[in-house]
Amino acid sequence: MADHGSKRWRLVLTSSPLQGHMTPMLQLGTYLHSKGFSITIAHTEFNRPDPSKHPDFIFHPLPDKLSGPDISAGVIPFLQTLNDNCKPHFKEHLTQIINAQKDRSDKESIVIIHDNLMFFAADVALELDLPSIILRSSSAAFSLAMMIIPQLHQEGRFPTQDSLLQEIVPELDPFRYKDLPFIGRPIEETLQSITMIIPKTPSAMVWNTIEFLEQSTLTHIRNHFQVPIFTVGPLHKIIPTPSTSFLEEDTSCISWLDKQAPKSVIYVSIGSLANANEKVAIEMAWGLVNSNQLFLWVVRPGSVPGFKWTEFLPDGLVAQMKDRGLIVKWAPQKEVLAHKAVGGFWSHCGWNSTLESISEGVPMLCQPFDVDQKLNARYLSHVWKIGVEIVAKSAEIESAIRQVLVGKEAEEMRQRAMEIQDKIKFALCDSGSSNNSLKDLVDFILSL
Ligand code: UDX
Repeated sequence: MADHGSKRWRLVLTSSPLQGHMTPMLQLGTYLHSKGFSITIAHTEFNRPDPSKHPDFIFHPLPDKLSGPDISAGVIPFLQTLNDNCKPHFKEHLTQIINAQKDRSDKESIVIIHDNLMFFAADVALELDLPSIILRSSSAAFSLAMMIIPQLHQEGRFPTQDSLLQEIVPELDPFRYKDLPFIGRPIEETLQSITMIIPKTPSAMVWNTIEFLEQSTLTHIRNHFQVPIFTVGPLHKIIPTPSTSFLEEDTSCISWLDKQAPKSVIYVSIGSLANANEKVAIEMAWGLVNSNQLFLWVVRPGSVPGFKWTEFLPDGLVAQMKDRGLIVKWAPQKEVLAHKAVGGFWSHCGWNSTLESISEGVPMLCQPFDVDQKLNARYLSHVWKIGVEIVAKSAEIESAIRQVLVGKEAEEMRQRAMEIQDKIKFALCDSGSSNNSLKDLVDFILSL
């Protein structure tokens, strides 16, 4: 427990209603609560966290008027609706807390922690003269890429001509132009969303990454922001946190995995947001069947547009799949990746999935879709050399699955993945970088 003297602290955490953002926020809250801080979670009503899983936190709903289709309607309208609707309620709630404490001798000091999509929280912090800290749930490389896109645009390098796509971006080595986020999106929308989500005046930033993974990029980030930056990843390994899933986890897949041989199963999931069209989903299914390997496939309901769940699969294919694998709607992913039967992870390469896989020494098949995922796939395949990048064609998938699961190349990849896993374990131990950074974060909050 941190020594807070006579002072009391309330940390007000607010995360956007995206699985990949909410999970690290609740994990950070769990850690900070274990250090003696009181935690309030100010959350949207859409995709709300489950208060019964975190009985020590206070939950405060922010009426957001959001619905599922808003998320896919486009980045700008989604961010605008989210921020415009949440801001007044958030400010009112904090003002009430401050006013209620005015004449008390034991008042709580308030610190806001928010993700970069909830930028209204930074405005409220300024208006109420409260410190604010940003939690970044993606890699440092993604932020650096977003920061240089406006410059690339001014110099005529973004949007990028086809002839340049395979080239390295000199300011972002080893990433190529084709790995940049937002490729193919309207440029005005891209520039506007970058302006919205690049942090402006935080007191500090907390990154769910690990110092050794992104050292030089973090140096650039530190030089740019000139505020304390804490690298505390992978947050899911810091402290046990109850399930943070918005969807119900199908735990029957764990008993199915229990019956399989070590390292024999490829686990497949494209995360909480990406969709695979019918053609791609059928190629994926054929790739799985023809690889002759065992598989556990998460098909999120609605992730193949036009279908409720797996109705896109032809009957003949379903029959062939039954012998080799299991399809579920949502899995307890961290438990799955830690299971001895899992030998590879075929993923969209979201940052949480990437961290969860490398923390267990599991090599990956990389099928990036959007946002930061191509950068993460480049890390996995080119820098860390523990991933194989694929496009969704069944013949290619079939050989890539074997490349990750069986044979000499798979063995070498697994060896490298285990070396990274060991370094992550070290970062988490008493004198490791993430553990030290967490202690520094606690001291920093106490100094505010
Ligand atoms: C999004 C972006 O896609 C991602 O690139 C960005 O880094 C964060 O926001 P998402 O698509 O949700 O995230 O991917 P990811 O970051 O990998 O997070 C998915 C989370 O859902 C992981 O924590 C994973 O463990 C969890 N999950 C996924 C499950 O618990 N069960 C599943 O079946 C699938």
